[in-house]
Amino acid sequence: MASVHEDVQNYYGQQLQQSADLKTDACCTKAQIPSFIKEIIKKVHPEVVAKYYGCGLVMPPKLEGCRVLDLGSGSGRDVYILSNLVGAQGYIVGVDMTAEQLDVAKRFIDYHTKEYGFEKANVEFRLGKIEQLTDDPGLKTNSFDVIVSNCVVNLSPDKKKVLQQVYEILKPGGEFYFSDVYADQPVPEELRQNKVLWGECLSGAICVSDLISGALDAGFTQPILVSKQPIGVNNDELQKLLGDIKFTSCTYRLFKNKPAEESTSVNDKFGALVTYQTPINHYENEFQFSQTITFKLNGEPQYLNTELVEMLRLSRYSENFKFDSITNEKQIPNVTEQVTDQPVSNEQSSSSSCCCCPGTC
Ligand SMILES: C[S@@+](CC[C@H](N)C(=O)[O-])C[C@H]1O[C@@H](n2cnc3c(N)ncnc32)[C@H](O)[C@@H]1O
Repeated sequence: MASVHEDVQNYYGQQLQQSADLKTDACCTKAQIPSFIKEIIKKVHPEVVAKYYGCGLVMPPKLEGCRVLDLGSGSGRDVYILSNLVGAQGYIVGVDMTAEQLDVAKRFIDYHTKEYGFEKANVEFRLGKIEQLTDDPGLKTNSFDVIVSNCVVNLSPDKKKVLQQVYEILKPGGEFYFSDVYADQPVPEELRQNKVLWGECLSGAICVSDLISGALDAGFTQPILVSKQPIGVNNDELQKLLGDIKFTSCTYRLFKNKPAEESTSVNDKFGALVTYQTPINHYENEFQFSQTITFKLNGEPQYLNTELVEMLRLSRYSENFKFDSITNEKQIPNVTEQVTDQPVSNEQSSSSSCCCCPGTC
């Protein structure tokens, strides 16, 4: 395990200097960025932006005042966007194990504090491994509202441990919102040993089915897919090694539900009709809960099953929604999209199931 960490540190600390040095498109997938976030990115220091290696957009709605942790924060682009979104009352911690990446991020704390007009910094960067978050006395159990991560979990040699750690330090009702790379079939061991393919966020990728089992084992709710995008390797030599394995960048949200005794969902045995009725800043027209569920403000109520209602009710989004519980099984609308966002087969995959072999994740 030590050698995977060292190889990744070497890749991100020594070999890569900026996004343009990446050999494939995996760690630099172009995400759809809303215009208000584009405006914030314009304020982020260009040196930080040039060292961005993410594969999605990890900015969920309603962050104002939140305490947020970014796992594998790199040189800090997302931390500085989040810093603006949480505002002066919020706080962001970035954790990364690569000192060179953290050094860049730390150099620009004052710059962004001034740029955003904050009296004091709302950002802090900590050196550490995402498999050992709870060893850091600065990262306490149940202490973050939201945890994000952009193209990092695939690089970990112990993804299950990462999910357990995230669950531990997330507050009950909190959300893990993260983008990562997934493979449509188990990546063979010889490719997993290839340091460039691992560093490029490809050969450490697991299958969605393994994410789901790891998340459920850690205690999270069913993962909710928010968006996905196929990844082009765009490197003939590496593509040849990878053969027909297809990769997809996916953004998921996982909720840590409150303990059952605090749950308010006793009436939601048959689900509920849910309306988005109090607008969230920047999401005044609609709220996208998952890839298949988008609520229009004061639009037609949508039927959500028990599990999804519980997630929403216990989350920080709860007060923005109206829940009309269904009291009788016969009232359940005949919706084909009873969405629990089951594993997606990757866009270009021919197989709809994807199971990693034991021990490969
Ligand atoms: C692909 S880059 C993404 C960086 C950043 N999230 C971004 O979007 O620019 C991966 C980052 O994760 C860090 N990293 C990888 N594995 C890690 C681990 N196990 N613990 C802590 N940091 C890790 C690397 O040092 C690197 O900075």
